[in-house]
Amino acid sequence: MKVLIIYDSFFGNTEKIAQVLGNSLSPKNQVEVVKINALKPEQLTGVGLLIVGSPTRAFRPTKPIVKFLKKLPRGALKGIEVAAFDTRINPVEVNSRLLNFMVKIFGYAAEPIAKYLVKKSGLLVLPPTGYFVKESEGPLKDGEIERAKEWVAGL
Ligand SMILES: Cc1cc2nc3c(=O)[nH]c(=O)nc-3n(C[C@H](O)[C@H](O)[C@H](O)COP(=O)(O)O)c2cc1C
Repeated sequence: MKVLIIYDSFFGNTEKIAQVLGNSLSPKNQVEVVKINALKPEQLTGVGLLIVGSPTRAFRPTKPIVKFLKKLPRGALKGIEVAAFDTRINPVEVNSRLLNFMVKIFGYAAEPIAKYLVKKSGLLVLPPTGYFVKESEGPLKDGEIERAKEWVAGL
């Protein structure tokens, strides 16, 4: 199956997860891992599984990721399996009551990505998932790479 993993990343953490997912799904699938700003429309042709990942920025996916998802024509993902992930900070560890409160209301990037994908007729095959970074710019918390491998292991 052709697998396309589209991601955005400022500091490399989301990119790292995207690559781990790509490596886990290879070689039994034909996998392409591409940063959103390098995506060519033809890369979507023939895709059987589309995974989209973004850093959580102000409780949302990045602007390029949202723009891409919004621009997908209605029904574009019909018959395509989809999954969404993000990277994020654990508000409990940041020890900010305000951030905790805001996260409860506004959440993270993975869920809205999944909603867009389903809205464009994608078939959600994995629960939207987030991978934690230690500090705002990373690195990823211990164990998150393994968790990413497990996330796609059942596919
Ligand atoms: C401007 C800015 C806003 C952020 N907003 C959030 C947020 O709302 N929720 C969250 O969990 N993490 C937030 N973070 C932390 C990012 O999620 C973290 O930088 C990201 O996971 C790193 O991924 P990357 O290396 O792929 O860019 C923010 C970081 C920055 C710099």
